[in-house]
Amino acid sequence: MVKKAYYRSFQAVFNVGARCLYWRRPVPVSGIGSIQKIPSLLRKEKVRKVMVVTGPTIGKKLAPKILSELDAAGISYVLFAEVESNPSVNTVNRIQKLYLDNACEGFIAVGGGSPMDAAKAAAARVVRPKTEVGRMAGLLKVMKKIPPFIAVPTTAGTGSETTIAAVITDSDTHHKYALMDLHLIPKYAVLDPEMTRELPPKITSTTGMDALTHAIEAYICWTYNTGESIRLAEEAVCEIFRYLERAYRDGNDMEARTQMLIAAYKAGFAFTRAGVGNVHAIAHTLGGLYNTPHGLANAVILPIVLEDYGEAVYEKLAHLAELTGVKFDGSDEEKAKAFIAEIRAMNRRMEIPTGFDFIKEEDIPQMVRWALAEANPVYPVPVVYNKKRCEKVIRRIIREA
Ligand SMILES: [Fe+2]
Repeated sequence: MVKKAYYRSFQAVFNVGARCLYWRRPVPVSGIGSIQKIPSLLRKEKVRKVMVVTGPTIGKKLAPKILSELDAAGISYVLFAEVESNPSVNTVNRIQKLYLDNACEGFIAVGGGSPMDAAKAAAARVVRPKTEVGRMAGLLKVMKKIPPFIAVPTTAGTGSETTIAAVITDSDTHHKYALMDLHLIPKYAVLDPEMTRELPPKITSTTGMDALTHAIEAYICWTYNTGESIRLAEEAVCEIFRYLERAYRDGNDMEARTQMLIAAYKAGFAFTRAGVGNVHAIAHTLGGLYNTPHGLANAVILPIVLEDYGEAVYEKLAHLAELTGVKFDGSDEEKAKAFIAEIRAMNRRMEIPTGFDFIKEEDIPQMVRWALAEANPVYPVPVVYNKKRCEKVIRRIIREA
């Protein structure tokens, strides 16, 4: 009880402080072929040499499209195409060194969450060269403007192109943590659906469910929300319900791809303003311990945590049930349960599992510690978890496999 009172007081005070901050949104540049506008954005920012950060697969398949635009415009670049999923401190430090060695003046991050998070953390290190990545974990520890940063998402999910967060994994302890600072919000988000055209169905579905988790966790928070974050979360949920399965079934459906990129961008803004919650806190432990893809972890955990929250979220989920057309009649409880059932049905139709059987018994206490430390006191969760309740949810994730 004492802890919960402290967390709620912290959040109330933080909420007042947060309303005094300037929550910038990245400038969106969207539509088919929008990567062609990157050179003019760089010129506008007076960037003569840029560092392009991505992963090995995108480095071969998609980054060349951007590099050829840079070549044609006569803009120099350095390519780092070795970002792994769940990027490590080690990778961040290598990017920072390469950037400084080559006197780069800006970043282009191309990919899903991992390349963007690694580039953001490296950008933080560029302006804070004496501060190790781990020392910038938590809220508002960067506190310095980063170089011009263009985010080019190749998945419609992480929302990293709009957020204050960079999630990094400690190379030695496997602990995953987030740097969260307004300065980490990219300057531009280039939302080109062509960059997501060849995304395999499995990644389309899980990254899309990550975006859904952002929108819902932001929407059900007990404080922090603003009129803008509520509106964008609602729009994102509706768009994801409408377009995710279309993009999953037909990757060439450019309308669905475009709308999913916009939905992920909106959900990214909603959660950067209103926070995520226990779903993300638990999902991050799975990423750190077992390298579980972030979207997959969220997709599985989301309905389990929403059911566990119970009546604390009925009213808000009932409203989402109406907005998405899932259910209009009955009590809030019935509508909320129908909404959660629809999330489970979406998962089922996209062949996402119902639980995880690989979680080891001996890891559960560590997962509980990490999840509680991440969620509290910062995340404005509708239900504050204690050790017992968090462990119960983790055991349900195993049991439902
Ligand atoms: Fe996420």
